[in-house]
Formats: sequence, C-alpha cells, structure tokens
Amino acid sequence: MKLFDVYPLNDITITKAQGSYVWDENGVQYLDMYGGHAVISIGHTHPHWVKRIEDQLEKIAFYSNSVHIPIQQQLADKLAKVSGKEDFQLFLVNSGAEANENAIKLASFHNGKKKIVAFKKAFHGRTSLAVAATDNKALVAPVNETDNVDFLTFNDEAALKTYFQTRGKEVCAVIVEGIQGVGGINIATDSFLQLIRRLCDQNDAVFIADEVQCGYGRTGKFFCLDHAGVQADIYTMAKGMGNGFPVGGLLIAPHIKPKHGMLGTTFGGNHLACAAALAVLEVIEEENLIEFAKQRGMYLMNRLRTIDGIENVRGKGLMIGFDVPEDLKDLRKKLLYDFNIFTGEAKPNVIRLLPSLALSRKQSDEFLEALQEAIAELKPKAKKTGSVQQEEEVRAED
Ligand SMILES: Cc1ncc(COP(=O)(O)O)c(C=O)c1O
Repeated sequence: MKLFDVYPLNDITITKAQGSYVWDENGVQYLDMYGGHAVISIGHTHPHWVKRIEDQLEKIAFYSNSVHIPIQQQLADKLAKVSGKEDFQLFLVNSGAEANENAIKLASFHNGKKKIVAFKKAFHGRTSLAVAATDNKALVAPVNETDNVDFLTFNDEAALKTYFQTRGKEVCAVIVEGIQGVGGINIATDSFLQLIRRLCDQNDAVFIADEVQCGYGRTGKFFCLDHAGVQADIYTMAKGMGNGFPVGGLLIAPHIKPKHGMLGTTFGGNHLACAAALAVLEVIEEENLIEFAKQRGMYLMNRLRTIDGIENVRGKGLMIGFDVPEDLKDLRKKLLYDFNIFTGEAKPNVIRLLPSLALSRKQSDEFLEALQEAIAELKPKAKKTGSVQQEEEVRAED
C-alpha cells in the first residue's frame, strides 16, 4: 500500500534524537533549529520525559473519559501553576487543529453567536472550523467554505474598530496568534491585542488566543499574550505541550461554563498523553526553560542582526524569523544538506527558527557560524552582482 502523498519530503530518514540533535540512518548528526515544527520544547528524548512515559505505560496507557483519570487533574494543577491561569479550566484534546475547532465551537455554544473574526495570514489548522479561519484558500475544501468567518488585516486597529462598529454585536469570537507562525513570524502589537480584548468585552465576544505554536514558554513567557498584559478567554495549546507526544488542550476562563456532552473526545486526556504533558511542565519548571528561552532568543536575535545578507530579524524568545533575499534563496536547503541544520520556513522567503527551549549557547553559536558560512558560500555570485550594481550607481552619480 502506498502512503497518501501529501507531504513534500526532504530526502532524510531520522532514526535517533537527543536534546537539540537528531541523527539519520547513516549516523549523520543534524542540529535541530526547527524542533520538528515547534514541537520539541524540552529537548528530544529528555530522560525525565522518557521515564514518565515508560512508568505510565507499565500502569495504564488509556482508558476512556467515562471514568476518573486523576493524572488529568495533576496536569491541570501543574498547568495552573506554570501558566499562572489558576482559575481557568482545562479541556484536553489531541492536536492544535482540534484545540481550535473546540475553542470556536465552545465560544459559539457560550454566546449563541456565529461570526468569527480571524486575520490575514493566520493558520489555525485543518479541521472544518479551524481551516475556515485559516487564511489559505488552498487548504479550504468546498465543504469547509462558510460566511461565518471574516478576515481582517493583522495589526490594523482602525479596520478592527470599523468592523466592530458595524458588526460588533454579531461577533461570536476573535481568534488570533500572538505571533503568526506559518504566516511568517508576524508579531501582534500589544495595543492590537489590548484592542481585541476591549472590543470582545464590549460586544460579548470570546477572545481566543491560538497559542499552539507561540505558547508554552516558547516566547519567554508561558503564553505569548502575557507580553501584552492581555488575558484571553480561551487559550489553545498543542505542539510544545507533549514534546512530541500528541496532546493538545484548551484553557478556558471561569465565566465559560461546561455542560455535560457539549465537548468530547475518545483519546483526549488519555493517561499516557497526560504523563508526557506533565513531564514537559516538570522539566520546564525544573530547568527554568521559559527564562532560558527568553535569554537564548535575545542572544540569537542580537547576533543575527549583525549578519550581512539576511533581513528583518524578528521574534520573541525562541520563535524567530528573518527574511532571505532572492540571491540567497537556497539558504535553507544549503543549511540542511551542506551544514546538517534543520530550520523552518514560511513561504515565500522567511526562515523560521523554532528550536528546543533548552538550546545551548554552544549550539546557538554552531548555528550562527554555519549560517554565516552558508551565506558566504552562496554570496560570491550575489556579491559580484552587488558590486557591479554599486559601480553603476557610482558612475550614474558621476
Ligand atoms: C498557530 C497554529 N495553530 C494550529 C495549528 C494546527 O496544529 P496541528 O497541526 O497540531 O493540528 C498549527 C500548526 O502548525 C499552528 O501553527
């Protein structure tokens, strides 16, 4: 049987991983500045994470949500402590799309409304509502098309105010990423997030923060919205939550009340997933990884800003992006195949860095040196054009 061929693959087979490194089947070591798409939070195969999963596996891996699962409450207690959202409620799912799907659905159950405000370049996942709120027509099947979602320009406060002046009372929810990941590392301004909060309050709309990629400590605070001093009504989480074990969740503000049967899942919150998620939070706390990510991110960004050739370095903590000009368009491939470094991308020309929050200083330097060398190797051609252009400009000035 063939695999359903939807993924454009790099021709690499990874067979081993540890910390911020992975190894292919030939034993070649790669530095993972991509974190398997922002998923590896505490480092590949962290010993505490492995042990917790192994111990749990020997007791019980799964039973359905028809019985008490005490490890869910342990996870909720730990999440309350690490996130600071002590009075929120936890609903567990299996992925980012499922978290957003349930968040939008819950918002609509809560206020009885239908209109969802999302933003251009947003990515919220591939299930029905999540994809309808995703600004990429290629991902939306005819059956997912809906008039219930309106897209506004990210960070455009005037447009948001105008929209709410006319349609505010219809709005069920606003869904936003604190930093758009797939969209290219676009950072929401504090004042934009504060405005969303005010408009949601004034119009009985639910503020959904999609923290699937930018949350869980990656930006140097537990939630990206914490930088703006803004509290959402629902936070969605996945990627870094399990460090590679599939688990997602919603943190739900206390004014949104549950009712039996309104949400549900077979696998969400299973024993094994909770053990993995608990291990992640324990390591985040024990190794002070949120502060670590903040410091490491500042170091990387400061150094990246001094590197000739790349442009518009931006980000928070270890969610970093920079633009790659046309003359370096092969940079990402070169980093992968010639320097054995995984990075992420956002089309058309952004390189994204989403490494483990435990990336060491030495590994950061290893990346920075490789990046400079890769640019230098790609540049001669570019430099030549640059200098020819300069000469022509000088002559023109003459
Ligand atoms: C911000 C954001 N939301 C949701 C998702 C979807 O998550 P999943 O692929 O786990 O369904 C992603 C995945 O990249 C994401 O970046």
